[in-house]
Amino acid sequence: MTDLRGKTIAGTFYHAPEAGSLDILADALIRLDDRGDIAALHRSSDAGHGEARATALAKGSLVEMPTGSFVLPGFVDLHIHAPQYPQLGKALNVPLEDWLQRHTFPLEARYADVAFARRHYGALVRDLLSGGTTTALYFATVHEEATRLLVDLCIEAGQRALVGKVAMDNPDECPPYYRDASAAAALSGTRAVIDYVAAHPDNHGLVHAVATPRFIPSCTDAVLEGLGEIVAECGCHVQTHCSESDWEHGYALSRYGVTDTEALDRFGLMTRRTILAHSNFITPDDMDRIGARGAGVAHCPLSNAYFANSVFPLRAALEKGVRVGLGTDISGGPSASMLEVQRMTIAASRMLETGVDPSLPAERRGRPGSRVDFDLAFHLATAGGGAALDLPVGIFAEGYHFDALLIDPAAQGSTLRIVEEADDAAGVLQKTINTASKANIVAVWVGGRSVANGATP
Ligand code: GUN
Ligand code: FE
Repeated sequence: MTDLRGKTIAGTFYHAPEAGSLDILADALIRLDDRGDIAALHRSSDAGHGEARATALAKGSLVEMPTGSFVLPGFVDLHIHAPQYPQLGKALNVPLEDWLQRHTFPLEARYADVAFARRHYGALVRDLLSGGTTTALYFATVHEEATRLLVDLCIEAGQRALVGKVAMDNPDECPPYYRDASAAAALSGTRAVIDYVAAHPDNHGLVHAVATPRFIPSCTDAVLEGLGEIVAECGCHVQTHCSESDWEHGYALSRYGVTDTEALDRFGLMTRRTILAHSNFITPDDMDRIGARGAGVAHCPLSNAYFANSVFPLRAALEKGVRVGLGTDISGGPSASMLEVQRMTIAASRMLETGVDPSLPAERRGRPGSRVDFDLAFHLATAGGGAALDLPVGIFAEGYHFDALLIDPAAQGSTLRIVEEADDAAGVLQKTINTASKANIVAVWVGGRSVANGATP
């Protein structure tokens, strides 16, 4: 395992700083400072490349990536429920509102037991890192203690994370065994976790606290208002669910006479640091509002197939200036892999474009102009997620954290076959997004620190 802080890395790097375009840095050099941030980047064609290489070599700080392997930015999972990991791959056959009451709230309630939390949170953080998720925006549970533990585990494992104690106090929608005791308890618990993260001696900016109203149905107005005040005060991130399904979209309309987006905005919860999960049913006006506030959407296409009654209109949102990243939405989505999420993003967009009901004539079956391809999915899973979070991750550029994966097509158990004489650089990335698996992710770094898999270089 190599710690890359203070080192100069020689290799081929792929990233997609802008939507819809790839930037391939073949035989480039990236120099990290002692904190693991990118201090300099030299393309092979840059005048200073040779000298930078010679200097690093002379200092003994040059680290060469193995031939045939290449480096990607780490993946940003923009929406994930940490406590739902034990349920991954199960309970997918009932609608959202039943799934919450019958399966998910009973599971989340078990995190009152800190030993249970330690076991499952520990496994999740390790599994995510080895799958290439270097940043995760987590929902925890209502429990303050287990939420603090998730913060500790991310810091220990070296995962960049944003963690929220879930606020849910509405007795009409949340069962007595799993809700905040009162609005005041929800707010003081949120503040306590924010303070805990800020004062954590080993944090050094790796983990951030998040105001996390579960979604409008779970929260009383007092909680939504109070969280809005906390956010105005501390400038922390916000994470919630927005217009996810027919039922959920309809709930806000009937309670407030406006959409989730407008209601959240009225409560001061629509900021540049807000991430709205799903948002399948947002209107064009909602998109304008979200874009104007600079908030982001976590598109969770696997989960949407089970719980959202629709495909998120990704292209339309991007064209309206909405910042978008991708999320697994564990366990609404039955995979922890951000590679799988990218594939489903592409597939779902194709289904939206062509439509899915063969009994309809082709011209009435779908929504033309909806498709996205691997380059955009890759952008969203990396740079898009980083931009939505307002964090310097997801691309290789000066000042950004070096959060990265080493992909080895020749790894043991590889599902990625590169054909040298047929695959150009873009083809290699396309194949990676579409066919690579955990076996191909042979090293993972967060801020230059080796955090998983630990292969050769
Ligand atoms: N809406 C409220 N809670 C949840 C949750 O845990 N998962 C999903 N997908 N939607 C939600
Ligand atoms: Fe969710």
